[in-house]
Amino acid sequence: MTSNTIKFVHEDRILEIKNPNPNETILNYVRTKLRKTGTKEGCAEGGCGACTIVLGELKNNNINYIAINSCIMFLPTLQGKQLILVEDLISKNGSLHPVQQAMVDYHGSQCGFCTPGFVMSLFSMFKNNSRFKANEIKDSISGNLCRCTGYQPIIKAAKSLNNRNKTDHFTKNKKNMISLLKKINNESIVIYKKDKKYFAPRYVQELKKILKKNINSHLLSGGTDLALTVTKERKDLNSVIYMNSIDELNYIKNGKKYIEVGATTPLIKFEDYIQKYYSDFTTILKRYGSPQIRNVATVAGNIATASPIGDTLPLLLSLDAKVVLKSIKKTKIIPLNNFFLGYRKTKLKKGQFIDSVRIPLFPKNIFKAYKVSKRFDDDISSVCASFNLEVQNKKIKNIRVAYGGMASIPKRAKYCEKILLNSLITEQNINKAKKALEQDFKPINDMRASGKYRMEVAKNLLQKCFLEIEQKKLIRINN
Ligand SMILES: Cc1cc2nc3c(=O)[nH]c(=O)nc-3n(C[C@H](O)[C@H](O)[C@H](O)COP(=O)(O)OP(=O)(O)OC[C@H]3O[C@@H](n4cnc5c(N)ncnc54)[C@H](O)[C@@H]3O)c2cc1C
Ligand code: FES
Ligand code: FES
Repeated sequence: MTSNTIKFVHEDRILEIKNPNPNETILNYVRTKLRKTGTKEGCAEGGCGACTIVLGELKNNNINYIAINSCIMFLPTLQGKQLILVEDLISKNGSLHPVQQAMVDYHGSQCGFCTPGFVMSLFSMFKNNSRFKANEIKDSISGNLCRCTGYQPIIKAAKSLNNRNKTDHFTKNKKNMISLLKKINNESIVIYKKDKKYFAPRYVQELKKILKKNINSHLLSGGTDLALTVTKERKDLNSVIYMNSIDELNYIKNGKKYIEVGATTPLIKFEDYIQKYYSDFTTILKRYGSPQIRNVATVAGNIATASPIGDTLPLLLSLDAKVVLKSIKKTKIIPLNNFFLGYRKTKLKKGQFIDSVRIPLFPKNIFKAYKVSKRFDDDISSVCASFNLEVQNKKIKNIRVAYGGMASIPKRAKYCEKILLNSLITEQNINKAKKALEQDFKPINDMRASGKYRMEVAKNLLQKCFLEIEQKKLIRINN
């Protein structure tokens, strides 16, 4: 079924909006139309968490609660979901939600501007976990900035949730909410609003047809890159095809030779899955934006941006990943190594979309990845490095080295690889490989780092990789 009217649940009611503006953010709608002003706007670019709200998504007869940045999510993407705002946490009898009460009890708020965002991030943690350990707490608020309270009272408040009643009014109302969500969950959306078009197909077949007819449309997945065109650059997106309503592409499959990640799989799901195979991948993803970002952002979106500082990209390059591209009739599988053409330019043609990414398995190899950024949490890399190698009898049998932040595209370090391949791991050879990085890259100066600093860091990360391998006694480095 296709409709021009989005439907979502708020305060136990199904709300309908006919032909909503495809470029309006959820934040703007909530504050100016619903007149719920608890949710704040800080940065309008996903970086401060003041606008955090929670969406309830129907998954396998259950509700998945995800925290998102409402400043960079467009209103029509609310279709089929439950909208939960900070005002909704107070129960009908007026009592505070356990998360709110904890913030009061532990003095987790001063000026209060950041507080609704923190409350919503903690609420999503509260709903999705049964115990709250230090790591989970830290992770859940890593996308929220506070300038006055300091984080300790907030962390103490979060810890205290372990001893509070876990049954809130959302738990009590869950059955009813599931039946409401089931009523609105199935429709594809097509909106024509003045000069703007918005499509949210539910199936790949539908997507192909829409794309064929609307070849100049922007593909929108999590929107954590694309939405900033509207919120920061103040430009319009006139024709948008929303990918993330296609459940068919939200999957991770594991074959014998590779893992396949569907285009609409959120990074948060991928980061848990990949841990078993490449634990450093998970370590990097834990520092990728924030949970609000990773709840909606995709690997496909990261690849399509071709950003030189896209964090999954050096990792995928060193793992020799392949991109599966589809169009109305054809499927093409391209090595990621050949996919990037120049600064934010790729081989993706009009009428094509990324269907999935294939990540080969290297059971005999050592995989390492490092991210260096100015701030530990919620920051973009200055340099990101990734190493995938097989070592036999202290000799490197195969190796792939890739860096982000060192060139106009994320790139393999071919000269460095050449020095190391079939070489014994010795300090002398590592030094030669470090020197070879100067042939591979001529990094630029920008606000994140100077070119000189980047080169130094790139060399040091190479050394770090081998030192760590040595420390784990996987091999010995001889002088
Ligand atoms: C606060 C903040 C923090 C961030 N932190 C990081 C970080 O730490 N590391 C990092 O690498 N990035 C970071 N980013 C950037 C962004 O989150 C990533 O690039 C993300 O992976 C983009 O995915 P998305 O699904 O949101 O893509 P979108 O924003 O939806 O799309 C991005 C681009 O990809 C295209 N596209 C999307 N899906 C497809 C598809 N299936 N086929 C073809 N083209 C497609 C779109 O048309 C668009 O050009 C951050 C962004 C924000 C706002
Ligand atoms: S307003 Fe800062 S993250 Fe949305
Ligand atoms: S309480 Fe003021 S910014 Fe957090």
